[in-house]
Amino acid sequence: MKVGILTGGGDCPGLNPVIRAIVRSVHNAGGHTIGFLEGWRGAIEGNFEELTPDGTDGIISKGGTILGSSRTNPYKNEKDVDTLIETYNRLGLDTLIAIGGDDTLGVASKLYSERGLNTIGVPKTIDNDLSSTDVTFGFDTCINIVMEAVDRLRTTAESHRRVVVIETMGRHAGWIACYSGIATAADFTLVPEVEVDFEKMCNLLTERRKNGKKYGIVVVSEGAKLSNDDEFITKDAEVDDFGHVSLGGIGDHVANVIEERTGFETRCVTLGHLQRGGTPSAYDRVLGTRLGIHAGRLAKDKNFGKMVALRGTEIVAVPLKDAVTTMRELTPAILSELEEFYTS
Ligand code: F6P
Repeated sequence: MKVGILTGGGDCPGLNPVIRAIVRSVHNAGGHTIGFLEGWRGAIEGNFEELTPDGTDGIISKGGTILGSSRTNPYKNEKDVDTLIETYNRLGLDTLIAIGGDDTLGVASKLYSERGLNTIGVPKTIDNDLSSTDVTFGFDTCINIVMEAVDRLRTTAESHRRVVVIETMGRHAGWIACYSGIATAADFTLVPEVEVDFEKMCNLLTERRKNGKKYGIVVVSEGAKLSNDDEFITKDAEVDDFGHVSLGGIGDHVANVIEERTGFETRCVTLGHLQRGGTPSAYDRVLGTRLGIHAGRLAKDKNFGKMVALRGTEIVAVPLKDAVTTMRELTPAILSELEEFYTS
């Protein structure tokens, strides 16, 4: 059995534990694994390296992906899909395991359903917005990075009697902002799922200041909108291969509104790619390892067109096509828990 793997889209902590576990699981089944470099680009160009259990054993603590990543979309130019399939056949692959978010897995799903390629998916993203799995690896490490940053910002905010606005990643789902807001006792958290209510936020900050709190912490998700009719705030007009714009900039806007309406000195900190860097947490190492083992087992069982997923405490296989159809948003239950603290 010869298995090709690749990591596509934005990197995240936990990718290397997945790679290590797939290599081991495939090896235990008598097969071997090659790793395509830089996502779908490597699979198109036939750019790969051999992966062995010995060579990958120590990568569990390393952030990012040893294979490199890209946002290359083979379907942007249908000829690339043909080249990719030629590469797959030329290398004598039995299976291709794609580790990625909705874009990468969407390609894997189409290659399976439209071109009959033996693909398997492993869900990853710091955004935690994939349906069909309860949690994505990378998310836990990410919210711990945000938590540590906010804990540090709290002391300087308090010293200077300021409000600090922290802008997080997460695209169009508010998981990172919501969990970080809860974990850091933020005064207010703005997420894409709820229309921004500046009046409520500023009144709360003012009330708390009157009650003696000398600083404020506001967490805002990059995908939050200023009103239901507004567009998202983007860095520029450029889109990637999958048609996504780069979000970012709402934090500065929110900081200006707070300063104008409350009179409190306010600063904005955009955490950006810090949130995706560094060593994975224990949770993400274990989740990544478990998903990788099961992806290897699916390859062994020739159970293609599936994605491994966490359901409760078990790793299960779900159809790839179902995994990429809907974005998972914050639930009303978690939103109501977040809002429990919006009282002065
Ligand atoms: O999907 C992961 C993510 O980090 C998003 O939260 C963010 O909007 C985007 O990727 C940033 O992408 P890039 O690394 O291309 O700037």
